[in-house]
Amino acid sequence: MTASTSHLKRWARTTESVLQRTLTAIGLSQSTARIAADSQAYWTSSHGKRWMANSHWREAPIFDDNDLWIRMGMQHLGMVERSAWAARSGRPWRRVVDWGCGGGANAAAFAPHTGELVGVDISAETVAECGRQVALVCDTPFRGVTVDVAEPETAMVDIGSCDVFLCLYVFELIPTPEYGVRLLHIARDLLTPGGLALIQIKYDDGRWLSRPRRREYRRELAGMTTYRIPAFWQLVERCGLTPVSIELVPRNELDERYAYFVIRKR
Ligand SMILES: C[S@@+](CC[C@H](N)C(=O)[O-])C[C@H]1O[C@@H](n2cnc3c(N)ncnc32)[C@H](O)[C@@H]1O
Repeated sequence: MTASTSHLKRWARTTESVLQRTLTAIGLSQSTARIAADSQAYWTSSHGKRWMANSHWREAPIFDDNDLWIRMGMQHLGMVERSAWAARSGRPWRRVVDWGCGGGANAAAFAPHTGELVGVDISAETVAECGRQVALVCDTPFRGVTVDVAEPETAMVDIGSCDVFLCLYVFELIPTPEYGVRLLHIARDLLTPGGLALIQIKYDDGRWLSRPRRREYRRELAGMTTYRIPAFWQLVERCGLTPVSIELVPRNELDERYAYFVIRKR
């Protein structure tokens, strides 16, 4: 691709992104049900290279010839371990739930440290791939649960309570910021008292382009849902959970504007 073609593509993407947010700002957002249906269709039906990369499967080209896939899981494990140590609520972790487990980068890092790993995802194939990756690193039992985007709460009966709840690179892909409240309630209800959650969001830094999109799911999956950092902190508290720490990453190899919240169940 020449420099001018890639410049043109970037310009077209930015223009489309501004247009969608303008339509949302004048009241033309799509319904949550419509966005949820588009999300369900995307994650369960496309299996090309881009889908694999978006699902963080280990064999996706972005993880070729580098250790990013392993590093992601280890970094997240480190974040939870530091908070657990500070709160003197260390292991054993009876059960770890990985919501939106994708290809298993986190599951594979946490599985050796827990009695059971539950991987939850929309795609049954992705859940199976996550289980395969866990089996490659340890004997910890893995349980896969597939969830419907429109009805995340229905998965709870198949999961059971947990000591650690993970949700990484998923909140930016959910239909709306309000849907995130449902996931926070699920985390609260699954966690045992004193249990920890590690939830990553993409933050809204005040620029128009970093606002929630609320339209046309497939065109900018990873820009659908964003939060202002103080607003998310307060949302966590309103859901009955206690934020413990935030780590901000303005940009890394995956994308930009990441905030990692470690959260404790009171
Ligand atoms: C970017 S990958 C992240 C995978 C993994 N959490 C990681 O850190 O590598 C996003 C995953 O979230 C899943 N996903 C998307 N929307 C979801 C939702 N509403 N509930 C559960 N999983 C979802 C997708 O199927 C995909 O596997």
